[in-house]
Amino acid sequence: MASIHDILTRRLDPAWKPGEPSSLLPDYTARMQALHLAEPRIAEATAVFAGAIAGAGDMATLQSIRNAALSRESGAYSEALALMPTLSVDEKRVSGKALNLGKALVEAAEKAKRNALEHSREGGDAIDVTLPGRRPWSGRPHVLAQVREELLDLFHGLGFSVYTSPEVELESYNFGKLNFAPDHPARDAHDTYFVSPEVLLRTHTSPGWVRAMEERKPPLRLVFPGRVYRAEAVDASHMDQFHQMDGLFVAKNVSMADLKATLNTFARAIYRRDVPTRIIPIYFPFVEPGVQMDVQCATCAGTGRFKDGTEEKRCPVCKGTKWVEVLGAGMVHPNVFKAVGYNPEEVTGFAFGMGLERITMGRHGIHEIREFLQNDLRFLEQF
Ligand code: DAH
Repeated sequence: MASIHDILTRRLDPAWKPGEPSSLLPDYTARMQALHLAEPRIAEATAVFAGAIAGAGDMATLQSIRNAALSRESGAYSEALALMPTLSVDEKRVSGKALNLGKALVEAAEKAKRNALEHSREGGDAIDVTLPGRRPWSGRPHVLAQVREELLDLFHGLGFSVYTSPEVELESYNFGKLNFAPDHPARDAHDTYFVSPEVLLRTHTSPGWVRAMEERKPPLRLVFPGRVYRAEAVDASHMDQFHQMDGLFVAKNVSMADLKATLNTFARAIYRRDVPTRIIPIYFPFVEPGVQMDVQCATCAGTGRFKDGTEEKRCPVCKGTKWVEVLGAGMVHPNVFKAVGYNPEEVTGFAFGMGLERITMGRHGIHEIREFLQNDLRFLEQF
């Protein structure tokens, strides 16, 4: 019966050109020493396999060495290990351990060589046209930026230009000139961070209108995209910073009908062509009348009910109200015109303001507002 040594050595091929295995495996010398101590003849055969692997000049040669040494059915180490049951306990202990050490070493050398050959193949002068192409990684705008661009595109088409104003704003622009009386409870909804008693982080993008109107004469048709801040307790639907876009149209004889037409154009473009909308009165200090526009809840299709498996329950998105609020709007308050030096007898105007996170969350079914700022690619790459 063939000995372990015979089995290992008869698979060695004199045509193999030996190389230096320690260039592949930094711990080669130490591993080889351990193997020599265990069983010198297995160590010698292993050294030949490892040397041949180091010397292999191409994948085909490497593959044939791999087959001779490591193939599961006919490889030298598998065949030698198959002899184990025929050996005495002592022989088994010594040879078994040495064979396993040798096999692991040859496997590691083969893997390192395969990597090296693959790299040199990619890096070399020759172009291997059979390699699969590497798709270049390309980024994309953040999902909020995508929605902002879409809105800007829409309003650009309606004749609005962009006006940006500071995130660190004067208290008088954020509140006073927008007709918030000093102690009016409307300020409570706009709790924010103060830099000094007169300077704060803006709570909405509406202060932009004041700046634009002080700077320019009517007519004006502007949108005001930007980041805003509020001292909110953070949860799945509130953050202390988010994004808004206000719009403002001031000219002679601008009417509520113009506002409604503009808002409906917006809703059809951003939600869907036949989305039902409604406009209901609501108070904002800087508009009179002030309104809120709602669109029909897409989650429950305006039924207020939601099927969850077999169970029917109240729609979790509109809370059973059938509508979701999308923006505030109204006719610019005469006091705001007076504050910027416009004559409310000569001009009228409408304004609207929307939250980008809310629109984006509604559109994509996102239920966690904090995702927008966490920069987790698993989230961002979905859009
Ligand atoms: N600025 C308001 C807010 O943040 C939203 C708003 C309401 C803006 C009515 C408007 C408007 O332009 O006309 O709560």
